[in-house]
Amino acid sequence: MAEAYIKGIGTYAPQRVMTNFDWEKVLDTSNEWILQRTGIRERRIAAPEEVTSDLGAQAARDAMEAAGVSPGDIDLLICATASPDTLLPSTACWMQPKLGLEGKPAFDISAACSGFAYGLTIAEQFVKAGKCNNVLVVGAEMLSRMMDWEDRSICVLLGDGAGAAVVSSEGDGGRILGSRLHADGTYAELLWMPAGGTRMPASHETVEKKLHYYTMKGNELFKIAVKSMADVTRELLEELGMEDEGIDWIIPHQANVRILQSLARRLRVPWERVVVNIERYGNTSAASVPLAWKEALSQGKIQRGDRLLLVTFGGGLTWSAVLVEW
Ligand code: UT7
Repeated sequence: MAEAYIKGIGTYAPQRVMTNFDWEKVLDTSNEWILQRTGIRERRIAAPEEVTSDLGAQAARDAMEAAGVSPGDIDLLICATASPDTLLPSTACWMQPKLGLEGKPAFDISAACSGFAYGLTIAEQFVKAGKCNNVLVVGAEMLSRMMDWEDRSICVLLGDGAGAAVVSSEGDGGRILGSRLHADGTYAELLWMPAGGTRMPASHETVEKKLHYYTMKGNELFKIAVKSMADVTRELLEELGMEDEGIDWIIPHQANVRILQSLARRLRVPWERVVVNIERYGNTSAASVPLAWKEALSQGKIQRGDRLLLVTFGGGLTWSAVLVEW
């Protein structure tokens, strides 16, 4: 069976930094609450003229440069987002001409915070089946436009950003060893946007009732998150015939530093081996894993041959694990 490799990773974060102290000025919240409960100090907010596909395109260009490939080498574009430019067409289609990929297949996937790992897994299958040589997987989010800026239970958590990877049939490292995906739609209403789809089309009433924003039952999600991410990791390791000790780095979805601490304890991975950058970006959904990954690479933390566990959890509910040998 052919192999699939991560050939390059790219990221983009908007310029504007919004700190917890900025939130204090407009909302009944405090730096202390946000930092203690989540580990977040600041997040990025996109400029008014930017849209999600702009953020994604910047990250995609960075990933192609890191991989040493040009648009002509790309066979497929996959965009994972929960904050699309429009419901129709896909954000991947908006992004495609910005990248010079006209004519190439392009589609979105909707798996919320697990979107990047879902995207890598789909790309892995196209590459291993011999259908594609290079797949561009982008996780791009502009959550600042999907949240109610007066709802403190969610708005202080979220941020904007994008990350991308080139998944390739050839590579001298970055081999995808395996992946596992899960979803459980019975929990859909723990994190969702009630209106704007066929369940509740847009009307004056839906706008007045603020039903076009994300809404979340945070503490219920919290309990499920740790167990789901630990379970999916164990499943994947078992499938690969490996033990917890086989993980050199955990690169998790950055939802809450307390979730990550519990996960590290459960998986018996030392805290220094968990890549954490939630402090500076908040929760960027599908962009969070590549943003953390690229940062750890730039800091020289990750060595050739290290085994990287990408593990995610988010709306859907969705959760997943991907193991990569760098
Ligand atoms: O991205 C993937 C999906 N997301 C997650 O997995 C998120 C998982 N959940 C979490 O990270 C945490 O549950 C939160 C950070 C969302 C909330 O932390 P918590 O410790 O579970 O707090 P809570 O919701 O139980 O609220 C505790 C208190 C409440 O006050 P009372 O009722 O105890 O008086 C809230 O009203 O904190 C209050 N509160 C706030 N206070 C200041 C909630 N949000 C804020 C806020 N600032 N922003």
